[in-house]
Amino acid sequence: MRLGVLTGGGDCPGLNPAIRGVVMRALDYHDEVIGFREGWAGIIKGDAIPLTLEDVEEIIGKGGTILGSSRTNPYKKDKETGKDRVAEVIATFKKFELDALIGIGGDDTLGVASKLYSQEGLPCVGVPKTMDNDLYCTDFTFGFDTSVTLAVDAVERLRDTAKSHRRAMVLEVMGRHAGWVALYTAIAGGADWVLLPEQNDRIEKELEDMLAHLQEIRKRGKRYAIVVVSEGVELPKKTETEEELDEFGHMLLKERGIADAVANYIKDNTGWDTRTAVIGHMQRGGPPTLFDRMLGTRVGAKAVDLVHEKKFGQMAALVGNEIVGVDLKEAVGKQKLVTEDWIKFAKIFFK
Ligand code: F6P
Repeated sequence: MRLGVLTGGGDCPGLNPAIRGVVMRALDYHDEVIGFREGWAGIIKGDAIPLTLEDVEEIIGKGGTILGSSRTNPYKKDKETGKDRVAEVIATFKKFELDALIGIGGDDTLGVASKLYSQEGLPCVGVPKTMDNDLYCTDFTFGFDTSVTLAVDAVERLRDTAKSHRRAMVLEVMGRHAGWVALYTAIAGGADWVLLPEQNDRIEKELEDMLAHLQEIRKRGKRYAIVVVSEGVELPKKTETEEELDEFGHMLLKERGIADAVANYIKDNTGWDTRTAVIGHMQRGGPPTLFDRMLGTRVGAKAVDLVHEKKFGQMAALVGNEIVGVDLKEAVGKQKLVTEDWIKFAKIFFK
């Protein structure tokens, strides 16, 4: 068989192990693997490179993606030429004589793979990735473990300096719609509070509760505080404009400064010295952790098995400790958000 593979959306550690998993498993079937560069953009343009054992054998510990990535959406017409990019995707399939395409990505990239399968009849399977861990139908996605590990390290470093100066420190982590990164960082780092996008509808109450708690811990003698905030927290509400959305309709959050807003809120209401730290894209780089190496490898290899079982329209997912095929359409149909039970659980440790 001739298999195409691409990585789309925001990069994260684990993509290279997944590409390696695809190529190494494909070798067992004597398949040829073609890597398309920079996500769906590579398929639209027919920008591809062959992937051999030599290309992948040393990449398991490397961050990023050897194929490059982009947030290109073929279901949006080309802004400059007005061209139908889906037609170009179909043309590339024919030109490269692909028997199947393995899309590695989050809900946007996999949403495209799902549509190409259901609407255009193209043989696509999916491999889930996202540091946000918000993809439905899989227990975890690779990228999450590495990014939270980095964020927990940041909390520990911030604690040292916060303690020395009796400061309240606010750490902003990634997560536009789902707060899993912030939640796990706060619990595993032993933070004093967490603010999540899932609480946006009641953010004022959460801020009041946070303030009361921070004052309480200061009363009992704790000389510093650490608050973790997810970048998608809205305070105050900002109007979305056309220019601030990417091709999949998500807000571009590069200038929002939610950490500063939360720190100012704490300072204005307590008079305490506050500082902020935004780790941003640092969470997306660096070598994948053991967990992400294993998960990337396993789902990548499984995708090739799904192709050979002709299970198109499926995604290789982690369910319990098994890697299984799940319905791609269902997986991209809704986002896995932090539940109220998890929020209650996190609050047990804010004492
Ligand atoms: O979708 C993953 C993610 O890391 C989000 O948590 C973050 O908001 C976004 O990507 C940032 O995207 P970009 O790299 O395009 O700025």
